Amino acid sequence: MGHAKFKTSVTFYFEMNLKKEFTDKLKEAKKIVFFTGAGISAESGISTFRGKDGIWNKMKPEELASFNAFMKNPDLVWEWYQHRRDIIHKTSPNKGHYAIAELEKYFDVTVVTQNIDNLHRRAGSKKIFELHGNIERNFCIDCKTFYDLVELDSSNKVPNCKKCGGLIRPDVVWFGEFLPQDQFSGGEKAAEWSDICFVVGTSAVVYPAAYIPMSAKRNGSYIVEINVEPTDLSSYADYSLFGKSGDILPEILTEMRTLKN
Ligand code: OAD
Ligand code: ZN
Repeated sequence: MGHAKFKTSVTFYFEMNLKKEFTDKLKEAKKIVFFTGAGISAESGISTFRGKDGIWNKMKPEELASFNAFMKNPDLVWEWYQHRRDIIHKTSPNKGHYAIAELEKYFDVTVVTQNIDNLHRRAGSKKIFELHGNIERNFCIDCKTFYDLVELDSSNKVPNCKKCGGLIRPDVVWFGEFLPQDQFSGGEKAAEWSDICFVVGTSAVVYPAAYIPMSAKRNGSYIVEINVEPTDLSSYADYSLFGKSGDILPEILTEMRTLKN
């Protein structure tokens, strides 16, 4: 396993040999948490933020993902989110999302995600905390009325609130904004109570979200990282599995089927 990251993903997939300490944990665990980031949706064709083809290599986050940017040019920001919605609506959850949903057969599973793409819900996961909001929801910046997409016309211009005329924005967390408190504290509690905390497809550099796996670790949870490459979190992890989440998560599901039969 030690050198698995130097092999191709196909070889890796067939040679995957999970370490015993981990399979023992799997046998005993009751509560598990998946802390996920953009990498889990990469195989659905949604770009990540950092790394080779990352969004933030091409665009400045503060010019698109901040309240100031929205106030300066609401139509541009709205159009960018419409573009991201188009991509998300045309794609589907991948094997990684589905494996997490299916693991509910064996564990009390909580998903704590930084993603706004709604793909965990579409894959069937039930308990989800969304730390950075959800691109499907929108709200009026003045009276805070919520709107889902079907209530809004689909043009690329920012819509106005039907009650007060205020601008409508996506219900996502922008730079400089607070995380939704209920989602963060719910996610943190689940992490603290977990027996295993999987950290999947995240560079784990954006705070406060990245405190979640640390809270898990501090409370004795077993940290398993799944990523295509090492991250800032790798030194905290009890076990690192390097490869695509769409290959590794189904492998863990298969392992569970064997263990429970
Ligand atoms: P990043 O783009 O920072 O990191 C994506 C991670 O996924 C990287 O560590 C990749 O190595 C890994 N990765 C890529 N493809 C993978 C695959 N197929 N399988 C497994 N891992 C893979 O994305 P996040 O960590 O989610 O915030 O970024 C955190 C936050 O920063 C986002 O929620 C967003 C962004 O700015 C806001 O918009 C507030
Ligand atoms: Zn309003």
